Amino acid sequence: MMNGKHIVLCVTGGIAAFKAAALTSKLTQRGAIVRVIMTEAATQFVTPLTFQSLSRQPVYTDTFDEKDPERIAHIDLADWADLVLVAPATANTIAKLAHGFASDMVTTTLLATKAPVYIAPAMNVNMIEHPAVIDNLSRLEQMGVHFIQPGEGQLACGWVGKGRLAEPEDILEIVEKAFCRERELPFTGQHVVITAGPTQERIDPVRYITNDSSGKMGYALARVARELGAKVTLISGPVSLDVPTGVNVVHVTSTEDMLNACLQVAKEADVMIKCAAVSDFTPVEQHEQKMKKTNHDELVLRLRKTPDILSTLGGHKRDDQVLVGFAAETNDIEHYATKKLQKKRADMIVANDVSKDGVGFGHETSAVTIYDVTGGKTEVPFGNKLDVARAILDQVLSLQGKRIQP
Ligand code: PMT
Repeated sequence: MMNGKHIVLCVTGGIAAFKAAALTSKLTQRGAIVRVIMTEAATQFVTPLTFQSLSRQPVYTDTFDEKDPERIAHIDLADWADLVLVAPATANTIAKLAHGFASDMVTTTLLATKAPVYIAPAMNVNMIEHPAVIDNLSRLEQMGVHFIQPGEGQLACGWVGKGRLAEPEDILEIVEKAFCRERELPFTGQHVVITAGPTQERIDPVRYITNDSSGKMGYALARVARELGAKVTLISGPVSLDVPTGVNVVHVTSTEDMLNACLQVAKEADVMIKCAAVSDFTPVEQHEQKMKKTNHDELVLRLRKTPDILSTLGGHKRDDQVLVGFAAETNDIEHYATKKLQKKRADMIVANDVSKDGVGFGHETSAVTIYDVTGGKTEVPFGNKLDVARAILDQVLSLQGKRIQP
């Protein structure tokens, strides 16, 4: 399960750092490639040379010790990792991560990674029960960090209770299970690109044309696709939503920006879902200065059509790629949706009747009908957008001959 997997092991400054040496050895014996990062405090307990010898990989201790001028080490490590493990994790490192500090090689890497993060805390029993630590752990849990619970017993400080670093065998088992689950997830190995939100077309420095898309549907799709194992790129128009954990985001403003961002990733995408509400028109002229209302009882804005991103992607589509479009309609849903399916050369159109209560723009909920290239029609009942997203992704999988396991 672990053969060839890239694991970044962050060792922070506690007496349990010695157990991280045994862990490195066990992970390496299972075929994982382990790169160790140590905080300065950790080097007081165990030397970097110990980890270097056990992992046969370089050990990182200093953010500014850049060995290769072509690369930035903490970003490189963050991208390289299939999984990041922090063992032992001190109260200090947990607090820093919970509040977004980037003060050393461990925290900068942790902030930069999109890989799953597993934290194994180790500290004195009173520290782990302190409200500040409990609060930080729950903040991290909400961010999608996984925890490996500490054991109970005699602690190095003399106290008896909870706080001992989990045993290396137990940590190993949890890491193995994580890779095992990942392998069984239906989108593992696939790159899913999702567009979300509105686009904005500038009129002048203070005005633009846009629409009511909140991005909620697209962000829900991104979150569920990631949970189902996909590498996810979310191309997002201007919205005020948090990016789901583990999702790469590209922020765009105009239709043209969105088209360019889509074309950049289209070649290597396995699935592309165009959920964004793209502006169909853009002003012919963009005024460099604020337009004045004097001398205007009426104002005519000349607009020209924007490029149709979905059609452009449909024109370049690979046979093994699944292209999904949306259709926001208020009448004759089936007629317009199936027309879009054909005209835009998509594999699926997700139609939402945005004239219905609680469906479409801005809502937490939706209901859709999915039309696919095989002639299939699937009704997804009214529900929250995460459930609707799951049903849409299940239909994508069914076109690939797979399904989400219940
Ligand atoms: O963001 P929320 O508030 O959660 O709302 C979700 C939603 C209503 C925005 C979403 O469910 C939805 O319906 N998105 C598509 C809205 C839309 O623009 O539909 P359309 O029928 O105008 O466009 C059809 C398809 O062509 C869409 O996939 C659209 O992304 C694409 N398109 C349209 C115009 C254009 N220039 N380029 C495109 O790619």
